[in-house]
Amino acid sequence: MSKALDGIKILDMTHVQSGPTCTQILAWFGADVIKVERPGAGDATRGQLRDIPDVDSLYFTMLNHNKRSITLNPKTDTGKEIFAKLIAECDVMVENFAPGAIDRMGFPWEKIQEINPRMIYASIKGFGPGPYEDCKVYENVAQCTGGSASTTGEIDRVPMVTGAQIGDSGTGMHLVAGILAALVHRFTSGKGQRVEVAMQDAVLNLCRVKLRDQQRLDYAGEMTEYPQYPNGKFGKAVPRAGNASGGGQPGWIVKCKGWETDPDAYIYVITQAAAFPAFAKVIGHDDWNEDPEWNTPKARLPKLAHMFDEIEKWTMTKDKFEVMNILNPLNVPCGPILSMKELANDPGLRETKTVVEVDHPTRGKYLTVGNPIKLSASESEVERSPLLGEHTDEILKDIVGFDAAAIAAAREEGAI
Ligand code: COA
Repeated sequence: MSKALDGIKILDMTHVQSGPTCTQILAWFGADVIKVERPGAGDATRGQLRDIPDVDSLYFTMLNHNKRSITLNPKTDTGKEIFAKLIAECDVMVENFAPGAIDRMGFPWEKIQEINPRMIYASIKGFGPGPYEDCKVYENVAQCTGGSASTTGEIDRVPMVTGAQIGDSGTGMHLVAGILAALVHRFTSGKGQRVEVAMQDAVLNLCRVKLRDQQRLDYAGEMTEYPQYPNGKFGKAVPRAGNASGGGQPGWIVKCKGWETDPDAYIYVITQAAAFPAFAKVIGHDDWNEDPEWNTPKARLPKLAHMFDEIEKWTMTKDKFEVMNILNPLNVPCGPILSMKELANDPGLRETKTVVEVDHPTRGKYLTVGNPIKLSASESEVERSPLLGEHTDEILKDIVGFDAAAIAAAREEGAI
């Protein structure tokens, strides 16, 4: 089966998480991703959070599947020559170094365009143009500066970062969209372009509903679906809302049977208006359906905390999967809190190749998350990440046009 991005070559200058997430998806779509790494060192994540001594870490292997690795130092003379040839031959260049790093290698955007006017040059930086544009940024900095931390956490407690890597992987996914749009644009324009995503912007985009709420708060001084209503206090900015739903249907996390010993024995339940009568009945509160104090969403709003306490009395009598099995047929949206242990062993996720076992020559078998984006005519097969420089010689021969003597000289010079 052919792949969606067959024939597209990606010059992958990414490292750590945000950029590699992007190029990994492009590789799963079928692009030939050539990961450029510093000779002798490689992507710093190869050595970070190692579980097995001297073996590429899971941090690296899980972000760099289906890529080829070439070692190259573009700061050396021969390195510059090789790099220029790779720019000429590739369709897309992706990088997420600190601001200015590629320019300092001697390859500003103007020069890249000169070498290859069809090149799409995609970058991730922490911030867009402005006072912070030169700052280095990691995941949690982006979560804090993009509005996520301020709006996440328990009511009246410290701001909280989330485990979902919205700053890194979230920005990487935004960059994928930009690159694919630029590739389509190139069909008609014949020209490449720059694609830039700032981590702050990507996080803010994912926190869009909170900017919606800021304006509602500015207007009304309160928001009736927030747990602060009606007895708590609202300040000037959107508050942390615990586990309240971000949408128009109230939701909360409630305990299930076994919560005393199992930290994940909980379920999220949403009291969607249309399904409320059946939900009330199943938890033993058919009385609410006749009572004007309870039988409209508006009447329930000031009593949400009490309502979820009553729901919890029922959910605590059942395990989280029983609750789900009872509520789903009633059209009550709900989701058990699934631990990483449970997800790793979920047969459904294995079946859809969202969780995949991969074999690696030095580490052996490990689990990873496969491509979450499923294309019917371009199925993704997860292939192990490359060893450092594993494909240097073949790339130099096939793409750069070096012979064995030129490769040996480049190695001698420290260019590869
Ligand atoms: N050969 C030679 N030098 C190389 C090289 C190679 N193949 N690849 C990288 N380098 C050099 C760079 O040129 C740079 O040198 P310079 O600063 O002297 O010009 C140097 O390595 C370090 O790059 P830098 O990006 O500054 O790494 P860092 O470890 O200090 O910072 C980040 C890491 C992630 C904080 C930073 O890259 C960054 O802010 N990136 C943008 C935002 C981002 O993507 N953050 C999330 C990462 S998950």
